Amino acid sequence: MPTVTGTTWTIVVAAGSGTRFGGATPKQFLEIARKRVVDWSVVAASTVSAGVVVVVPQRSTVKVSAHGLNCEVVSVTGGATRSESVRNGLAAVPADAEIVLVHDAARPVASPELFGRVVQGVQSGVDAVVPVVDVVDTVRDTQGNTLDRSMLQAVQTPQGFSAPILRHAHGTSGEATDDATLVQAVGGTVATVLGERWNIKVTEPDDAIVVAALLESR
Ligand code: C5P
Repeated sequence: MPTVTGTTWTIVVAAGSGTRFGGATPKQFLEIARKRVVDWSVVAASTVSAGVVVVVPQRSTVKVSAHGLNCEVVSVTGGATRSESVRNGLAAVPADAEIVLVHDAARPVASPELFGRVVQGVQSGVDAVVPVVDVVDTVRDTQGNTLDRSMLQAVQTPQGFSAPILRHAHGTSGEATDDATLVQAVGGTVATVLGERWNIKVTEPDDAIVVAALLESR
């Protein structure tokens, strides 16, 4: 397989309304362990990126700066869905970027090591790389069937892509809860790397307590 060694940019999607979390401030802009959730995500992304595109809500006055970071930071406004927000972010990624990562701002505990594994995976020549963890709970579907958990994996971000295939996958107005699903739908290859059990997505108020403890312990 060909190797990809070019520039990496990361899109940090932070344009959700956070309705499940509640409160006036979307969860990704809450301050946890002395930094906003989005800033923890941008700092981790900056360790592997020449630049980070932060996708913020429309009419937001939130600023995300490159202060103290060794990379460029650009802000754009998001769309009505996560996929639309990614497309807006992708439009701001320079044409010469060869690898594009997409990361949920709401996952502030993803480590620089995980970002590194994802980039390495794309550099090895696959179209897309997703971090996965085993499912530890017994899982039932809504019809009441217990699923074989040995066949299931939970998918996280950051996800990494060869830039042309991600642009191609987002060329139509496809919708999915992650980007690897759209890449696979256009025939792209998707590989997995080991995710991190603690890489939780801040979704409900209690998640903020767990994330605060994890970030404080760094
Ligand atoms: O809603 P969900 O938890 O799947 O959101 C995952 C990430 O996508 C969050 O960081 C959220 O801010 C972002 N998002 C976005 N634009 C939307 C919806 C979600 O940037 N319209």
